[in-house]
Amino acid sequence: MNALPPLAASQTRPPAARRLHVVTWGCQMNVYDSGRMADVLAPLGFGPAASAEDADMVILNTCHIREHATEKLFSELGRLRRLKEARAAAGTRMLLAVAGCVAQAEGAEILRRAPYVDIVLGPQTYHRLPEMIAEAEHGGRAVIATEFPPESKFDHLPEAAMPAGGVTAFLAIQEGCDKFCSFCVVPYTRGVEASRPAEAVLAEARALVAAGAREITLLGQNVNAWHGDAPAGGEWNLARLLRALAEIPGLLRLRYTTSHPRDMDDALIAAHGDLPMLMPFLHLPVQSGADRILAAMNRRHTGADYLRLIERLRRARPDIALSSDFIVGYPGETAAEFAATLDLVREVGFAQAYSFKYSPRPGTPAATAPGQVPEPEKEARLAALQALLAAQQQTFNASLVGRRIGVLVTGRGRHRGQIAGRSPYLQAVHLDGPESLIGHEIEVTIAAAGPRSLAGERRAANEEHAAA
Ligand code: SAH
Ligand code: SF4
Ligand code: F3S
Repeated sequence: MNALPPLAASQTRPPAARRLHVVTWGCQMNVYDSGRMADVLAPLGFGPAASAEDADMVILNTCHIREHATEKLFSELGRLRRLKEARAAAGTRMLLAVAGCVAQAEGAEILRRAPYVDIVLGPQTYHRLPEMIAEAEHGGRAVIATEFPPESKFDHLPEAAMPAGGVTAFLAIQEGCDKFCSFCVVPYTRGVEASRPAEAVLAEARALVAAGAREITLLGQNVNAWHGDAPAGGEWNLARLLRALAEIPGLLRLRYTTSHPRDMDDALIAAHGDLPMLMPFLHLPVQSGADRILAAMNRRHTGADYLRLIERLRRARPDIALSSDFIVGYPGETAAEFAATLDLVREVGFAQAYSFKYSPRPGTPAATAPGQVPEPEKEARLAALQALLAAQQQTFNASLVGRRIGVLVTGRGRHRGQIAGRSPYLQAVHLDGPESLIGHEIEVTIAAAGPRSLAGERRAANEEHAAA
């Protein structure tokens, strides 16, 4: 099954309004994909539902990265089954779909354990949702689509529609991964690396800005491996694409995530130095500080390579703040090797980071490797690493107190009269101010720092004095 078939007559006109509820787990790519699935279904008359209880269709957009992610799916499916049965008893139908990386990896198993699911679809088939719905509604059988179709879903999805007023937006430019880190399911669930053409990315970025976006985060499982067709022939790299995006009027900020250390090339490092709107924050997963573990993980870089890279980035953009991913308790990791990870963390000084206990994933080489680390040991290592990372985050946040920084105001704050925004370093900032500032980048003095967010004031301390 290839391109989308022509729409059936009943699909060209929106039927009576139906309500869609999408639950999203996993990475930002899944957040983006959930939005695109809603875009595909809008022409069929689907509008947003506040909860599964109010919905005519529920899509669970799943993540397979660690074990508990899969278990979350089956427990949520159990709850939805009861909802679906109650609906059927009342004579109405609720469609239940499972999308995302668990769907891709375990499609048949999902239907075996949860035969009441109507549709199972992998991440490369979202553009085919309308035909799958028609098939599920009229055929009465579960529909499963987990192949990697020859066409790109990006060529068939409608332009991203954005909720009015969204100041920050994601834009997927690359999908899939050819790196095959020995612990990771992503190459199996997302398929081979594919880059969208530059023109398609630029067009989507312009549409997002027209809809109100002021900050765009480019997404990809290996976003810095992006190399796409250039508008006038030839090929661009990510640095060149960022330079073109930086010229879009009205766009204030650019970010990209997630990068692999091996694909941080000179041009991209240079872009951090001379593109002011490329925010000084980079998520660059290192996973471990021990070279033997990095080799076993098939990361193809050493701890020293990573440190050199950080040094070059800091030379290009001295205020760049760094984030990373870590795995503790990889098979065979000794106490000394874990200590090497702590050393690397101390050496870099991260602004924030994510850390995980190694979770064996079916079908990946590490799952059957000897020397699986006992659970209590993994827990202890994770606690030690997280304590160090939390202290570094607190130190970084505190270092901004008293400084004046640009804050992009993204929405209302928690309390009346408060607004919320984002610092260049991806921290949440809360301050007093009018809602008319939403969508603007303003200068803010940081007054206080918490573990995960900052409090700011619009006036500098000297202006405060003058106004008093
Ligand atoms: N390059 C990817 C990484 C995706 S997975 C990206 O676009 O984000 C995100 C993180 O999950 C990885 O960096 C890794 O730290 C963690 N991870 C992946 N597989 C894992 C596993 N089997 N167990 C524990 N953590 C894992
Ligand atoms: Fe997974 Fe490694 Fe690819 Fe990242 S680079 S998605 S960790 S295989
Ligand atoms: Fe999870 Fe798939 Fe993203 S496994 S992290 S949703 S690519």
